[in-house]
Order: sequence, then C-alpha cells, then structure tokens
Amino acid sequence: MTQRISVIGTGYLGTTHAVCMAELGFEVVGMDVDTEKITKLSQGYVPFYEPDLEPLLRKHVESGRLRLTSSYAEVADFGDVHFICVGTPQRKGEFAADVSYVEDVVEGLAPHLRRQCLLVGKSTVPVGTADHLAQRVAELAPAGAAAELAWNPEFLREGFAVEDTLKPDRLVIGVSSDHAEQVLREVYAEQIAAGTPFLVTNYATAELSKVAANAFLATKISFINAMAELCEHAGGDVTMLADAIGYDDRIGRKFLNSGIGFGGGCLPKDIRAFMARAGELGADQALTFLREVDAINIRRRTRTVDMARECCDGSFVGKRVAVLGAAFKPNSDDVRDSPALNVAGLIQLQGAQVSVYDPKAMTNASRYFPTLDYADSIKAACGGAHVVLHLTEWREFRDIDPVQLGEVVAQRYVVDGRNALDVGRWEAAGWTYRGLGRGVVS
Ligand code: UGA
Repeated sequence: MTQRISVIGTGYLGTTHAVCMAELGFEVVGMDVDTEKITKLSQGYVPFYEPDLEPLLRKHVESGRLRLTSSYAEVADFGDVHFICVGTPQRKGEFAADVSYVEDVVEGLAPHLRRQCLLVGKSTVPVGTADHLAQRVAELAPAGAAAELAWNPEFLREGFAVEDTLKPDRLVIGVSSDHAEQVLREVYAEQIAAGTPFLVTNYATAELSKVAANAFLATKISFINAMAELCEHAGGDVTMLADAIGYDDRIGRKFLNSGIGFGGGCLPKDIRAFMARAGELGADQALTFLREVDAINIRRRTRTVDMARECCDGSFVGKRVAVLGAAFKPNSDDVRDSPALNVAGLIQLQGAQVSVYDPKAMTNASRYFPTLDYADSIKAACGGAHVVLHLTEWREFRDIDPVQLGEVVAQRYVVDGRNALDVGRWEAAGWTYRGLGRGVVS
C-alpha cells in the first residue's frame, strides 16, 4: 500500500516537502494553522521566492494530488505518515531555540490519531526533543503504540530547495523501532534506489546530525573570515588563500567564500541554540568555540561599515550610500538575519542616506526594515552615491557594467562585501575597489 503523506507547517521547509512528496507520486495533504497561507497555496501561489517551486505546486494542486487544510482532524484521518515541518526560531532575548511550534503540533495532532501512523519530525530541534515528544505521543494518541515517532532532519538549502529535497545527498533517520524504519524506507524508496546514503540511527544522533552540520558550515565560513582579518593586517588576499587551501580535497573550496559572513534563518540561530543546549547538558565547554565563530561573523559586518566610512572620508553624515543586496544570500527573498540589511541599518544610524536595491527581496526588506530607502533599480540606488556596497552576490550585480554605473555615482568607490565582483573590470573603469580581506588589492 502506498503511504499517504501529511505535511504539517507550510513554511519554507513544509511547502517544499509537501510539493516534492507529491512530485514523487504520493497523495499529500499540507496543513497549517495560518489560514491565509493555506488559501494562497491552494490557489497555486508560493508566499516566498524559491526557484522551481511554484510551477510544481500548481501542477500538483491542479491534479488534486496535493490538498491543503487547516484541520488536524482531517490530517489525522488522512495520513499514514505525518511530517512535522514547523519552525524553531531563536527565543527572544535568549540563545535557545523556541520549540513551542513543534510541541503545539504534537499536542494538536496526537489526540486525533486513532490508527497506525508515523509522525516524522523534520524541524531543527535541540537534542532530546524527540524523546520528549515520543512520550507525549504515547500519552495523547488514542491509537496507543500504533502511533510512533521518528526524526528525519532536513538539510535543504534555500535557493536549491526542490533539488535538495528530490535528490538529497543523504537521508538520516532516528527511529525507535524496525517498523518506523520500514515505513521511511518505503517513503524514500526512490532516493534509496538512486543510491542516496540512508543512515538509520537513534533520535539523539539524528537530531545532532542537523545542528552539527550547520555548526560545521558556520565554522568553515568564520574560519575563512578570520583569515580575511589576518590578510587585512598582513597584506594577503583571502580569495587566493581560499583557493590555495581549497585545492586540498580534505579541506575543499566550498563554503570558503569570505565576505560579510553568514546570515539567514538557520546558521546563526542554530549555532546559538546548539551552544545553549550543550550548556543544559553540562557540555558547554565542547561548544565554546562557536561563540568565537559567531563573534568573527558579526565582526565582518562592522568591518564592512568601517570600510564604507573610510570611503566617505571618515564620516557618513551627509553622504549617500548605495546598498546592492538585501536577501541573506542570492536566489532568495529571505531577509532573516540578513548581513546586507544589518550593514545598511548600521550605516543609516551613523547619518548616511542609504538606498537599497535587491532583485527579489524588496517586499520583505521594506516590511521588516521600513526606515531604509528602497530604489527600484541598481541605477536608481546608486545615483549620487559616495560609495556602492555589494552585499548579496546576485548574478545581476556581477553583470553590472562599471563604466555605465560610474556615470551616475558621486564618487567611484565600491566595497565588495562578497568578494565576487571582477576587480580588473571595476578598476579599469576608474573605480577604487575594496574587498574584505584583500589587503593586496590596490
Ligand atoms: C543552511 C545549510 O546550508 C543547509 O544545509 C541547511 O539545511 C539549512 O541552513 C537549514 O538549516 O535549513 P541556508 O540557510 O539556505 O542553508 O543557506 P546557506 O547556503 O548555508 O548560506 C548561509 C549563509 O552563509 C548565507 O548568508 C551565505 O551568504 C553565507 N555563506 C555561504 C558565506 O558567507 N560564505 C560561503 O562560502 C557560503
């Protein structure tokens, strides 16, 4: 029998998972307590920008393979496998993760579970959460032991969400029974047949594999950004340094791009929640290095502000600053903990008039940071600017003609916060180019 799938929480992760499960051939119900989101999705609209997702959503909503609801009773009645995909944001004023949305799902769904089914957590949670939730399912579900829990962390990247879900580089499942493993082997049969590594483990290891992966990625980025700091003092070029060490395949060149550092809804909050959880477990010393990872990351933002100020003769007062990029990374309209907007905000507070342009993130940026000025094109953002800051490496920005842009600015200073522009072209067009960690660049 083919499993019927429900996906609870239709944010980034849930919408992508629901659509991809439908694409894999399953009957799917997506559920969210936010009825506005459900209405939009039922009409075929994805409420955020993710390449390839909307056409697939439309295809499966139209075929009827993917339905949407806001009723737990309906979900419980329909699904054999219930994926939990709600968010676990950073708690206000603390480092720890807020797992209340995950708890709400279990409290809301479990009392309706009257037949055999498997709940599968995909959200990023502090280690130990699954154990606690499994107990709650046992206490609340009328189905008793026939309602089980598994943990199956998600490793998708924004901008590649569909590809990463359909063709993941690995699948990790934390289970407490052979039956749960069997069910997930059926759900992921296509990926397993295609050779995707399938790791079966306990809850704790599955939960940890997600935060450990994000902590490693954050550490890698902060490592190269620490090297950038050194290069600034020693006269080295961090981009060349990254190439030089990245050719060693034990190190690898991926995630060694230096610049204004990491942001987004995952890496920053996940390393903080990981530290908080380690403290609760009495293992805080194991992760104190992540404090440094976080500190290096934040220092890159203030360094970018300093560089921009230097281009404005030491003071932002009365100066115009153009900011190219608002999303936390290209191919996304996500502005959560965006380094670009953080830098833009800091500069504005120091007296400059800041004009921001981003190809996709303007609506989100102006909603969350309404006090910045937003321009509707690169040229409009850069008009009369004393310095242009390149803070999100969209293709559109890399393709800028520096000769033409040079005609609209007040002075030709560019700070490349992503070390992604072609230095030679910009310098040939009369610009003073400054990259982070590129002490040797003239
Ligand atoms: C990250 C992880 O890469 C995913 O594997 C994980 O599933 C996801 O978090 C999650 O926890 O849900 P994502 O937040 O989409 O994915 O973004 P990344 O591509 O990891 O980029 C994070 C930040 O690091 C961005 O601000 C990016 O600009 C920055 N970055 C990335 C660098 O500064 N340098 C690099 O070399 C790479």
